[in-house]
Amino acid sequence: MSEIRNTVTSLDTNKKASNQKEDTILEVNNLTISFRTNSGLVRAVRDISFELKRGKTLAIVGESGSGKSVTSKAILGISAGNSITDSGEILYDGMDLLKIDEDDMYKLRGDRIAMIFQDPLSSLNPIIKIGKQITEAMILKNKTSRVQAKKDFNERLAILSANAIEATGEEEKVKELAKTFDTLNIEALQLETKYNDSYTYAEELKADIEEFLFLVEKKQKVDTKAAKKNLKAKLAKVNDELFRRGNEAEIKKLETELDNADVTLVDEKLSEETTKTLNSLTSIIDKILAQTKPNFLGFAYLAHTSQADKIKDMEIEKANELSEQILQSEFLVEFKEYTKKAIINSHEKSLEKKENLLPALKEAADFYSAKEYTKKDALAKAKEISALVKDSIDTLETHKDSEVYTFGSSLNSAIERYFKAVKNNPKEEKRYASQTAKRDKLIAKGKTIDWKVLPKVVYDLDELKANIVAVPDDLKHHYQGVVTDYDIDFDKRTEKLIESFRKTASKVVEKVTPTTARETAIRLMEEVGIPEPRIRYNQYPFEFSGGMRQRIVIAIALSANPEILICDEPTTALDVTIQAQILELINKLKKERNLSVIFITHDLGVVANMADEIAVMYAGKIVEKGTVDDIFYDPRHPYTWALLSSMPDLDTDEKLDAIPGTPPNMIYPPKGDAFAARNKYALEIDFEEQPPLFEISETHSAATWLLHPNAPKVETPASITSRIERMRQKNGGAQ
Ligand SMILES: Nc1ncnc2c1ncn2[C@@H]1O[C@H](COP(=O)(O)OP(=O)(O)OP(=O)(O)O)[C@@H](O)[C@H]1O
Ligand SMILES: [Mg+2]
Repeated sequence: MSEIRNTVTSLDTNKKASNQKEDTILEVNNLTISFRTNSGLVRAVRDISFELKRGKTLAIVGESGSGKSVTSKAILGISAGNSITDSGEILYDGMDLLKIDEDDMYKLRGDRIAMIFQDPLSSLNPIIKIGKQITEAMILKNKTSRVQAKKDFNERLAILSANAIEATGEEEKVKELAKTFDTLNIEALQLETKYNDSYTYAEELKADIEEFLFLVEKKQKVDTKAAKKNLKAKLAKVNDELFRRGNEAEIKKLETELDNADVTLVDEKLSEETTKTLNSLTSIIDKILAQTKPNFLGFAYLAHTSQADKIKDMEIEKANELSEQILQSEFLVEFKEYTKKAIINSHEKSLEKKENLLPALKEAADFYSAKEYTKKDALAKAKEISALVKDSIDTLETHKDSEVYTFGSSLNSAIERYFKAVKNNPKEEKRYASQTAKRDKLIAKGKTIDWKVLPKVVYDLDELKANIVAVPDDLKHHYQGVVTDYDIDFDKRTEKLIESFRKTASKVVEKVTPTTARETAIRLMEEVGIPEPRIRYNQYPFEFSGGMRQRIVIAIALSANPEILICDEPTTALDVTIQAQILELINKLKKERNLSVIFITHDLGVVANMADEIAVMYAGKIVEKGTVDDIFYDPRHPYTWALLSSMPDLDTDEKLDAIPGTPPNMIYPPKGDAFAARNKYALEIDFEEQPPLFEISETHSAATWLLHPNAPKVETPASITSRIERMRQKNGGAQ
């Protein structure tokens, strides 16, 4: 029996200092995940890397068991208990999601990164009404995020002021500017809160009118007098001047009409006149709800400087423009000037610290390269150097430098991994030796045994140590690049910082009360295409069809307004027509909300119309990735060919090509290209050596030896090329 040696490798070492690009929202580097099981280590994900671009859809396509769900769960931090993350990083907003603690992960999960699972029933609680399931998390998360936003705003304004004072020495002036900025934001928030209240009452009023008309039409029992009273009261609460602006006269007229309206039912019907009044009310509310929101900061400024009259009777859009112009030219121009000085000051201070840190980083790398050190010393050193690194961060930078932010956690986890292996390797060797000896003894005695010796899991200590060294080493290289980068657009950074202040401030007023949560839920239900959401709101999951349940799950995912939506086979459990509708819905939401989507599926056909980029996964590896056009019109990996030819093609009677064989056992992944055994184009080397990802173009790469310059020329199979040709023609000859 051949001995199987399982050396777990962690290939962090050759990773070049990576820093997230601005158009990339999520980046996965060298992710490797295994599972401990009774029959050995399952290598579910093996050294995969990909990027998700902001506002784009990345499809991950592959057969069952290829590691798609394991990857997406790792991003959300919900990996199974028996999982081991052997190496890698998942970068999001300056953090490595593999290394942040559960509290921070909780804040991201659902809130900024949301996930939709395959089976909508399992994501819904059967005994809680749909409406409550949508609103519950909304209310809870809102509280924490408002407190957080206020804190963020104050902290950063304090840092900004301190830097501006340091740079200019003009303490009085800076304090006055900061105070004005703060006051303006508070006053803007007051305007916004009032506006939002009217907005909510207008929504409720509209809903109540709808319900009233609905009940009358269906000849249900209605207390029409009470209904009228309620409508009047609600309309009176839609009283914000900004909200009503431009429609004041019309609303007043309708108010009087409603006052005088006769709501007695004649032949179980409302009078034509009253119906008309109610319908007019609905349409004017619709009009206002769709209007552009006021520029609250601009309005607050004008009020603050007694110039409110300038925009008093102006329609909102014009007033927005003028107030922004005045705000910019009177206050912001000066505020920006000081902000820019503060940013430069903070940048230069941080630069100096970074420069001074270079020798310390080198010293740390040397320390960790040493032959021996105790865990205690290693951690103490990490603490010391991490504090210095943290101190070197430029806190006024809006784009977080992930390399720097994750330094401490990366270093600690590399140290932990190394010392864990130092402790476990000898134990594992011993266990393996003693089990083998026992087995051999029994065999020598002629006994048959019904158990297997579990494969040995030992870690390569040299590599693990190199991973520790790489952390300070990488940062040193990264800092060397930073300190010689003179090409910084400080005006752009100033704009961005002020923009982010304004955004944070408006988060403070995004108040979610039970009533507004209900309205949001109903709006979301409408957005995801649930008919009669007001009635559906009070129903239980079993009262919904499969497609509708999936829509509800999507509404829940959207309720926190996430940036990233991960869809793990969201349509597999649905029949074909419903599938198409859900795909269309996801596409629509992505566009409207500028979501970045990871779409997981085993069906290449599904992604043609929705993905921007595709990563093809096989046996835990990405074997090909590229844009949709790369993958559909110029596929290079034989596995991608196989996937393409197993797609049902409505235009031909050609037999469906099933992919021969089965995926490999991931406890013993094949040595070379995992697809070799099922691949009729496989070369000898495919069975021997793992092919690297060959770059075909800037966007396109594939891991197959067929792309090696010395490989024999293998043409794309004719059945694929003819399919591609047909696809091209169908799409109007698009390349
Ligand atoms: N907790 C676990 N313990 C052991 N093995 C696991 C565990 N979770 C996943 N695996 C294994 O990891 C591999 C990848 O699983 P994953 O769920 O990512 O597949 P998938 O690509 O999502 O497939 P599917 O299309 O069936 O959903 C499979 O071989 C699976 O059996
Ligand atoms: Mg899965």
